[in-house]
Amino acid sequence: MVDQPIREADIAAWRRDTLGCAQCTHLNSAGASLVPTPVHDAVIGHLELERQIGGYEAAAAAAPSIGRCYDDIAALIGARASEIAVVSSATAAFAQALSSVALTAGDTIVTTNADYISNQLMFLSLAQRFGVQVVRAEDDPQGGVALESLRTLVRRHKPKLVSLTWIPTNSGLVQPAAEVGAICAEAGVPYVLDACQAVGQLPIDVTRLQCDFLAATARKFLRGPRGIGFLYVAERMLARGAHPLLLDMRGAAWTASDAYELFDGARRFEQWELPYALLLGMGRAARYAIDAGVERTAGRAHALAESLRHDLASLAGVRVLDEGAQRCAIVSLAVEGHEASALMHALRARRIHTTAQSRADAVIDLGRKVAESTLRISPHYFNTTAELERCRGALVELISET
Ligand SMILES: Cc1ncc(COP(=O)(O)O)c(C=O)c1O
Repeated sequence: MVDQPIREADIAAWRRDTLGCAQCTHLNSAGASLVPTPVHDAVIGHLELERQIGGYEAAAAAAPSIGRCYDDIAALIGARASEIAVVSSATAAFAQALSSVALTAGDTIVTTNADYISNQLMFLSLAQRFGVQVVRAEDDPQGGVALESLRTLVRRHKPKLVSLTWIPTNSGLVQPAAEVGAICAEAGVPYVLDACQAVGQLPIDVTRLQCDFLAATARKFLRGPRGIGFLYVAERMLARGAHPLLLDMRGAAWTASDAYELFDGARRFEQWELPYALLLGMGRAARYAIDAGVERTAGRAHALAESLRHDLASLAGVRVLDEGAQRCAIVSLAVEGHEASALMHALRARRIHTTAQSRADAVIDLGRKVAESTLRISPHYFNTTAELERCRGALVELISET
């Protein structure tokens, strides 16, 4: 099934599973996608159980299903269940990973111009508080990080960490995550990959990526609920004793008044209190993605985005801003004379869902592109060409209204 071409019947089945398809044209999977019914049912089912027997008792009763969630999330990215930590968001996952690296004054973090806003803010905060140096590799003329520049910086600075955002929040760029992994592996430098927009959108194999940490969230292309995410921590890092700076009792045993012992596995990166209903929803979303076949759903989502890019680029005043040798299911554009948030609200009034971003969301990238605001349109595999045409038609109307 997963290797087979997508048929009309598959699309119809995915749309039947997605209640929201009947309500709106949802082109905002890069913000928060529409959850399919099995994900919704997993969340509600557990909340119902909590209502009936209590939260602790419900978690105990659901223990086998909770275990399967770790298995399914791991299977989605080619990892082991023991390498998965459940956290509240991609940002929380990234922060936990970052805090496990012992950084002192003068240490360097190598990153890129397209890394996510909150990751860049964390680096700047570390620079201010501890005197850590943040160095960014140059861009490739096609867009995305220039690998030679990154390789040179890694050799020159011997950084404590390399950070890459695989797909930035504000554009259709896909950065060369596996190639960066190869550079880091060769140099023996820990590598944290922000896969927030990639999980559920791209096929993922952590062995091929050679990342030490991978941060993700459930609500975007994975189609899980809001408020939950996960962190992958490679077994080799766990074996070296990697753990977050601020440990929780889920991660270690307090063995004597001044001693603790780490537990095995990536649960060290979790906190004791977990939203089990959301965890079950995220696990179900991982299973749904695997069953749909990420390779084939990626092909469809990317083809929809590419056709939209092509159609919008021909409109007067529209500048499509996506760059890179490989592009994904995020279409970003600037429209001359139109604030993106005004367009987003006008589209939302027509039940067409997109997002607006401003220069502050991606200071370096949007500064270079000289764009004050951008409209982000992110189709997924459950969208149709008719929906894209609706969006394009609405934009034509809105643009010509001025
Ligand atoms: C590339 C990227 N990284 C990280 C995040 C943060 O994800 P979360 O809001 O789940 O922390 C986002 C959110 O848009 C993102 O696009």
